[in-house]
Amino acid sequence: MAYSEEIQKRRTFAIVSHPDAGKTTLTEKLLLFGGAIHVAGAVKSNKIKKTATSDWMEIEKQRGISVATSVMAFDYSDHKINILDTPGHQDFAEDTFRTLTAVDSVIIVIDIAKGVEAQTRKLMEVCRMRKTPVIVFINKLDRDGKDPFDLLDEIEEELQIKVRPLSWPIDMGQRFKGVYNIFEEKLDLYTPSKQYMTESIEFKDINSPELENHIDSQLASKLREDIDLIQGVYPDFDVNTYLKGDIAPVFFGSALNNFGVKELLDCFIKIAPSPRPVQAVERIVEPEEENFTGFIFKIHANMDPNHRSCIAFVKICSGRFERNANYKHVRFNKQMRFSSPTAFMAQKKETVDEAFAGDIIGLPDTGNFKIGDTLTAGEELHFKGLPSFSPEMFKYIENADPMKAKQLNKGIEQLMDEGVAQLFTNQFNGRKIIGTVGQLQFEVIQYRLLHEYAAQCKWEPISLYKACWIESDNAQMLENFKKRKMQYMALDKEGRDVYLADSSYVLTMAQQDFPDIKFHFTSEF
Ligand code: G4P
Repeated sequence: MAYSEEIQKRRTFAIVSHPDAGKTTLTEKLLLFGGAIHVAGAVKSNKIKKTATSDWMEIEKQRGISVATSVMAFDYSDHKINILDTPGHQDFAEDTFRTLTAVDSVIIVIDIAKGVEAQTRKLMEVCRMRKTPVIVFINKLDRDGKDPFDLLDEIEEELQIKVRPLSWPIDMGQRFKGVYNIFEEKLDLYTPSKQYMTESIEFKDINSPELENHIDSQLASKLREDIDLIQGVYPDFDVNTYLKGDIAPVFFGSALNNFGVKELLDCFIKIAPSPRPVQAVERIVEPEEENFTGFIFKIHANMDPNHRSCIAFVKICSGRFERNANYKHVRFNKQMRFSSPTAFMAQKKETVDEAFAGDIIGLPDTGNFKIGDTLTAGEELHFKGLPSFSPEMFKYIENADPMKAKQLNKGIEQLMDEGVAQLFTNQFNGRKIIGTVGQLQFEVIQYRLLHEYAAQCKWEPISLYKACWIESDNAQMLENFKKRKMQYMALDKEGRDVYLADSSYVLTMAQQDFPDIKFHFTSEF
């Protein structure tokens, strides 16, 4: 197959949701359609189960299992689909954000009853920042929930994105009859069943009295009214607006009942983007370029303390990756060869000889990589777009065993390279501060430092609100600010200035007093 065809047929995306909206169930149904699995429940077992937050070992074990499902690739209708899994547990939100840097599009799952939830909002923020095309799947129509029009308004308002329904539900809950598939002009009738596929009837004109042969007249007139309203209120669906990230098509269904999933997938392969150009510091890299380039977006540590090996996940941005070829590790300016790169087909991990732009490969690693590293066929190139986000929780990390200071520092450095948490060094007193998204990471760090580096740490409280990356064209004002806030200035791992605001009030005051300074909650702006 011609090289460009290989790339054109790839669809690399992530399914994201607030926990419990149905991400795992939807993933599983998509895999069933792709023939990648044959029984329902196969993905379920890899899900991070609801565990008490203190029981993180259990969660890590489950995360270990989920390496195999980090990427799930399958073929469907002449396309190669790469689904990137994201951890459901919100304490690993940073992992999810980074995974979003490696996808070309996203499907957001929303529970019809719960609507937009906290995690959805955050994830969408990342998509908006990167202009990632988004499709919304509204799930659990077999249950009662919000009025669909109200929910669409809520999505537009809360997620700050225009929407365009491409399917429309006919009632819901116990009375759920199915959806009208606006995209394909079909009537999809619902039968509650975990195995059953949608019964789909071509239906170009819903004003035809034929409709009453399938649903009762009250529902038929309601549907006609709704569709009229949709056509009047929402702009016609335009693929380019979707591809620019300006409008999100919306589908309705019930993942558990396998309803509306095939329709979603069929539309997805038609409209979702193949690998997109990626911005590097030096230039824009086009996927069709012949030379291989890629970046590390995730590092998965092995929990076995005897083998401190990791898998580094590479998103291929351009060209063809070949096993045993020489590639340049740009940060080290060193050639490397990879004899056992793995790809993730269905739920199996296997060694591959080649992979193309859009694919994700896993490289066994013993500490050579950190998140954001670029690999190329020789070019000096640095991919951008792996921002750090302001952590939610902060603690001082202190050495609890003076004999092991070296080990501790090495451990902290490596864990931060893996992206477990963020390190800030106070510019005033040199103390190290670790920032995380959730309490779990502190426990993970303490445990791993002890078991992998034989170092002991202890945590000391510090009350901080946000980490802000600051910039200004007004050098004098920046200097004055840094002097005034000396005790709250830190350096991040890359040596950038970060202001650690101790409360929202103090931050607002700082913004007022120093109007020429921009305060960013992410490290890339
Ligand atoms: P997540 O990955 O987004 O966290 O959600 P997941 O798919 O695990 O789904 C969360 C719960 O919602 C599961 O129930 C799942 O069966 C249920 N669910 C998913 N899709 C639908 C749907 O279309 N309709 C209905 N009614 N329920 C749905 P659970 O009881 O938490 O887990 P389980 O015991 O079923 O495994």
